[in-house]
Amino acid sequence: MAPYIGTATSRIDGRAKVTGAAKYAAEINVPDLVHGSVVVSTVAKGRIRSIDTSRARGVKGVLDVLTHEHRPEMAQSAEAYNDDVAPGGTPFRPLFDDKILFSGQPIAIVLAEEYEIARFAASLVAVEYEMHPHATDLARELDNAFPLKDDSFALEPSKPRGDAGKALAAAAVRHAGDYYIPIEHHNPMELFASTVIWEGRGKLTVYDKTQGVQNVQRYLCSVFGLKPNQVRVNSAFVGGAFGSGLRPQYQVVLAVLAARALKRSVRVALTRAQMYGLCYRPGTIERVALGADSDGKLEAITHEAIAMTSQLEEFARKDTIWSATLYRCENTRYGHKLARLDLPSPADMRAPGAATGMYAFECAMDELAVALKLDPLELRYRNYSERDQNSNLPFTSKELRECYAQGAAAFGWDKRQPEPRAMRDGADLVGWGMATGVWEALEMDMSARIVLTANGHAEVACATSDIGTGTYTIMAQVAADKLGLPLENVSIKLGDSSLPSSPVEGGSWTAASVANAIAMAADATRKELLRLAKKMPDSPLARAKPGEVALTDGKIVNKRDGHAAVSIADAMRHGSVDRIARQAATGTREHDSYARNVHSAVFAEVKVDEQLGIVRVTRVVNAVAAGRILNAKTARSQIMGGVVWGIGMALHEETLVDHAFGRIMNANIAEYHVPVNADVQDIKVIFVDEPDAIINPMGIKGVGEIGIVGVAAAIANAIYHATGRRVRDLPITLDKLRRTA
Ligand code: MOS
Repeated sequence: MAPYIGTATSRIDGRAKVTGAAKYAAEINVPDLVHGSVVVSTVAKGRIRSIDTSRARGVKGVLDVLTHEHRPEMAQSAEAYNDDVAPGGTPFRPLFDDKILFSGQPIAIVLAEEYEIARFAASLVAVEYEMHPHATDLARELDNAFPLKDDSFALEPSKPRGDAGKALAAAAVRHAGDYYIPIEHHNPMELFASTVIWEGRGKLTVYDKTQGVQNVQRYLCSVFGLKPNQVRVNSAFVGGAFGSGLRPQYQVVLAVLAARALKRSVRVALTRAQMYGLCYRPGTIERVALGADSDGKLEAITHEAIAMTSQLEEFARKDTIWSATLYRCENTRYGHKLARLDLPSPADMRAPGAATGMYAFECAMDELAVALKLDPLELRYRNYSERDQNSNLPFTSKELRECYAQGAAAFGWDKRQPEPRAMRDGADLVGWGMATGVWEALEMDMSARIVLTANGHAEVACATSDIGTGTYTIMAQVAADKLGLPLENVSIKLGDSSLPSSPVEGGSWTAASVANAIAMAADATRKELLRLAKKMPDSPLARAKPGEVALTDGKIVNKRDGHAAVSIADAMRHGSVDRIARQAATGTREHDSYARNVHSAVFAEVKVDEQLGIVRVTRVVNAVAAGRILNAKTARSQIMGGVVWGIGMALHEETLVDHAFGRIMNANIAEYHVPVNADVQDIKVIFVDEPDAIINPMGIKGVGEIGIVGVAAAIANAIYHATGRRVRDLPITLDKLRRTA
C-alpha cells in the first residue's frame, strides 16, 4: 500500500463541502428557531443616552429586543471575558453597559420568528447618543503612542545588540525608510454566525464559526456561569477565518444571551458590514534603518513598529523580531509602540507581525541593495546566517539557501537586468523583485484519540478545527499510514468541544501538533495489537518487540520478516476485543538549544502600464522550506492562498476610516478590494527538501502562514524595479505610483 503522508491527497471533506452536505454554523436547522438581527452603534465614542425599542417590539413576529438595559445575567468582571488568546487589557463585553467604544459596536439584538422580520425591526430601534471626541487616525496619535515593555510578547526575546546608532552613523552605505501597512480585514467567505440549540434545563449546544471550540466553551462557561457539561460547542466546518476566529466573537455571546432569555434555540448571523466591527490587522508604521559596509555586510539594523490598538486591549505581535533573527548583524535595536484608537481591538491575521514586519524589512533590504548597487538576492546571500541571530542558536533545520537557489532558478532570476525601467514587454514596464519570508514552527499541547474496530476501521478524534487548511485530510493520512489502513477506512472527528483537547487552530501549529499526537496514539494502538497477537496460538509474532512491528495492509507485521504477520482482525477476534481505543497527547516541545523557523524565498514579476500605472502581478515563485510536507496538494493550496493574499496586500487591500465619524467607509467587499481571478496569474510553489530529525518525531513545521510572508515586499520591490518609483505605503495603487515620480 502506498503511504499517504507526503502525497497530493485530495481533501476528504471536499465532496461534502462542494455538495453542501457540510453544514456551517448558520446552516444548522432546528424547529422553531429564533433569528436575531444585531443593531450596531453609529458613533465611535460616547454613551447611549436612550435606546427606544418600542417600535421594533411592535412588529408582528418580534419576540424580544435585548439591550444593555434588558438582558439576562452575564459576568460583571472584565476578567471573566478573557479567552485563551486574549491580549492584555479589558476584553470587550457585548451589551454590557451604555458605553460606546467603537463604531459598529453591537448595542441591541432583535429576536424574531423570521430573519427578515428581525432585520426589519432592527431598523426601527431608535438610539440617542451622548457623543465624545474620538480618535481613529494613527497618523495623528503618534505622539501618544506608548512603548511596549522590553519583556512584552511582541518584542521578546529580541534585545539590542552592540551599538546600532553608532554603527549606523559609521556605515558606508545606509538606507532608512518608513513603511506603512493600512488596516486590513480578514473577509472570510463565511460570515460569523452562531446557532445555539436550547436543549432544556439550561443546556446548550452551540454551533459557532470559530477556530477553537474549547476556547469558546471555556469562554461561555466563564461569561454565563455555566459548567462545562452544560455547553457543547461545535464547529465542524469553517469557511475561512485567517485569525478572525481565534477569539470568541460577539455573535456567540448574543446568541447565548438570546437563547437564555427566550429559552429557545437561536441563530445570530452577522452581515458582511457587521463583520468589519469585529477585528482587523492593525494599521502599522514600520521604521527601518539599515547600514552596511561597501560589500553589503550589514553593520546596523534598527526597526521600530508603531501600531494601533483599541482603548480596551493592548494587542501587539512580533513585527520586529524577524529583523532581529534573520540576517547576520552585530548592532541592532528594536522597539514597538502602540497608539490607542477608538476602534475594536485588532487581532491576528495570517502571519501576524511577520506579514507586516517583513514587508517593511524586506523592502528596506531591497532599497539597501539599490544603494549598494548589488543584486538583492546577492545581498541576502552575503548576510545569510546559520544561527538565529536573536537567540544565537542553530536551527533544527534551515534550508533557506535552497529556497533562494531553487526559487531563483525556477524564476529565471539570472536574466534580470539590474537597472530600473530596463525591462519591457510592449507598452508595459517589467519588474522583477524578491524577498525572504520567515515564520515560527510551533507546536502546542494537543490530544488525539484513535478508536480501531475489528472491521478495520479507525475513528480519529481531536477537538481542533479545520479552518479550511486541510486538517481533516492530513489527520486521516497520518492515521492511515500509522495504522496500515486504506485512507477510506479512517474517519475524522474534529471541531467538537467534547473531543480530546486542542488549543485554537492558529499559528501554523496544528499540523505538527495533531500529527505527532495521532502518531503517538497509533503507537499505543500498535502495542495493544501486538499484545493480542502474541497470545494467539503459534503466533508468528510471539517474540517480537513493539519497535519491531509495523501496521501494514491491515496486518501486524514484523518489519524484518514480512511473513511473520497477523491480521489485525484475527488478533482482535482472538482477544475477544471489538475495539481498541487509545488517546495520546503531545506536549509543547521546548528546544532550548535550537531555534525553529520556516523560511521562504519569494520572486515576483510585475508588468506596469507605463501610461496608466496599472500593475499586474504576472508571475510569482514561492520556494518554501517547512520541514516535512504532509500533503503536497493542500500544502500547495496554503502557499497559493498566501500568495494571493500577498497580492491583495501589495495592491488592493485597505480599510478606510472616515475620521470625521470614526467609521469604516468601505465595510463591504465591493469597495474593500481583494484580488479576483483576473488579478491572479502564474503562481508556482516549490517545497524544498528539509528533513528535520530534531523539531519533532515527524519533522513537521506547518505551512498555514509562511505563504504570505514576503509576498507584498517582493511585489513592491518588483514595482520599483519596473518603474524606478518606490511606494512605501500599502496598497500600491496607481494614484500613488503616479505621485511618486
Ligand atoms: Mo492564524 S492568524 O494564527 O489563524
